[in-house]
Amino acid sequence: MCGIVGYIGPRNVKDVVVGGLAKLEYRGYDSAGVAALADGNIRIVKAVGRLANLEEKLAQMPISGHVAIGHTRWATHGKPSDENAHPHQDCSGRFAIVHNGIVENYLSLREELVALGHEFRSETDTEVVAHLIEEMYNGDLFETMIAVGKRIRGAYALVVMAKDHPDEMIAIRRASPMIIGLGEKENFVASDIPAILEYTRDIYVMEDGEMAVLRRDGVECFTMDGEPVKKEVYHVTWDAVSAERGGYPHFMLKEIHEQPRAVRDTLRGRVSDDLSRVELPELGLAEEDIRAIDRIHIVACGTSWHAGLVGKAAIETFARIPVNVEIASEYRYADPIVTDRTLILAITQSGETADTLAAMREMKKRGVRVVAITNVVGSSAAREADSTIVTWAGPEIAVASTKAYTTQLVALYLLAVRFGLARGTLAEEKAREVLAALDDLPQVVEQVLDTAPQIESFAKRYKDAHDTFFIGRGMDYAVSLEGALKLKEISYIHAEAYAAGELKHGTLALITDGVPVIALAMQPELYEKTLSNIVEVKARGAFVLGLTWVGNEDLEKTVDEVIYLPKTMPLLAPVAAVIPLQLLAYYAAVARGNDVDKPRNLAKSVTVE
Ligand code: F6R
Repeated sequence: MCGIVGYIGPRNVKDVVVGGLAKLEYRGYDSAGVAALADGNIRIVKAVGRLANLEEKLAQMPISGHVAIGHTRWATHGKPSDENAHPHQDCSGRFAIVHNGIVENYLSLREELVALGHEFRSETDTEVVAHLIEEMYNGDLFETMIAVGKRIRGAYALVVMAKDHPDEMIAIRRASPMIIGLGEKENFVASDIPAILEYTRDIYVMEDGEMAVLRRDGVECFTMDGEPVKKEVYHVTWDAVSAERGGYPHFMLKEIHEQPRAVRDTLRGRVSDDLSRVELPELGLAEEDIRAIDRIHIVACGTSWHAGLVGKAAIETFARIPVNVEIASEYRYADPIVTDRTLILAITQSGETADTLAAMREMKKRGVRVVAITNVVGSSAAREADSTIVTWAGPEIAVASTKAYTTQLVALYLLAVRFGLARGTLAEEKAREVLAALDDLPQVVEQVLDTAPQIESFAKRYKDAHDTFFIGRGMDYAVSLEGALKLKEISYIHAEAYAAGELKHGTLALITDGVPVIALAMQPELYEKTLSNIVEVKARGAFVLGLTWVGNEDLEKTVDEVIYLPKTMPLLAPVAAVIPLQLLAYYAAVARGNDVDKPRNLAKSVTVE
């Protein structure tokens, strides 16, 4: 899980490559490095830690040339260190490579190469590729890379440059994402579009099993067997500025505040003007296809999995189809029971999560229809699914997912209503009511954002807590899980979510004087039961922050502090209720001095299993 940038052209290579890497730091950031080819020599500079460390080194040891590659790393094989940072080289220093992914057969290759006399400098799986190139090189870099591609197994996006080939660079893609940027007398390769958007908007999206030869005056694409491939140019229309912080101190806060817009965009054009129908032609499912579905398996990871839990409730309520919500990394090895009437719903913001993709591929192999819900057009999930619903959240840069989650919920509500209407399980009148409530959500979200100062004040007071508990029933429990994950991942405060009625079966033992409990009471039908559970934690000395709908002052009698949120349909309440929890995690992390957008040990796009 790393970011790659390569450049060939007349510009200052350091600016292009390091600038591109800065846009890819969300992919991982425990070390970084660049290699540039000038005067017949490859010069490499690497530094452990953030990109700023590399920039400091580059100020002392400048690089120049017309061909360069760079890398920002998220360690898989070998600890973060200067030696393990990419680019890697062979023994002779004639080749330099950067790699995103995992070479699965690296141990056997390493043994083979060591026996042939190669000397390794790092613990990485990547370095074997550099030595393999050296071993197999026959004077023709293109032919050599075809041969090397046949020897390595696993997932990889690789870019190689060679001393003897100063006018070209070769990129290979299998499973890990990679795009080519097309310029005038210059060309680019990168793991993702933001890295090159400053220079070009015309790109090729590399498909699995493709390779490209980049020269200053053109790019040629091939299969891994060297057969030419004709690529379509994809013109990127989104704005580079939308990927910048836009005045907020952190991307996460910006993205939290973008949610009214993101929800509105995800609804746009999908609800008929008279609020009676959902338009999702991209699903590619006719009425009879929808009626034929007898089970849905939602597969996802992390926050997207939490969205799936809400999706299950919506689909089961409106469409009466049984839904399992599965953790993708477990699902693929569980030999799930599926038939030709099963539908797989893969939810993945990035569209590149290895576990989710693997589960999708396994199901596709079995002939099961796969629909992806993703935020990234052109991502692997979008390309490999039978059909895709795009969430229009816009690029999400902060590692902690916020606007992607709320837009996933919106996509799931739309799908549930679409299915309910097609199957006749959702009355037209009820559908109108749901669609009207969905239509109101952007305003609801705006009002919820007004609670930010109250949450900031709570977060400052509770920043030193060691443990926090989130409790709720039904939809509130699903949101509690997401609230606890957000708090853990960016504030590093230990947090647990519990179905409120479950506490007394063990966890209540952990509730002592002053332990903060965030109690969600957004479901009127479950209110009284939840209240009893809140009374139980209060009796053990907990400090309770309650979340409930405007008008339910009753909660104030029991809890220490209340946040009032606009009332909406209970099934849609997660969209409102999650926002104070995102803000709580954010302000707690800021109060503790954490790097909010780049929490330790995590990366935005998890492309390893
Ligand atoms: C947490 C978070 C992760 C992701 C998970 C799946 O804030 O962002 O839990 O939700 O890694 O990622 P995607 O949705 O890209 O498949």
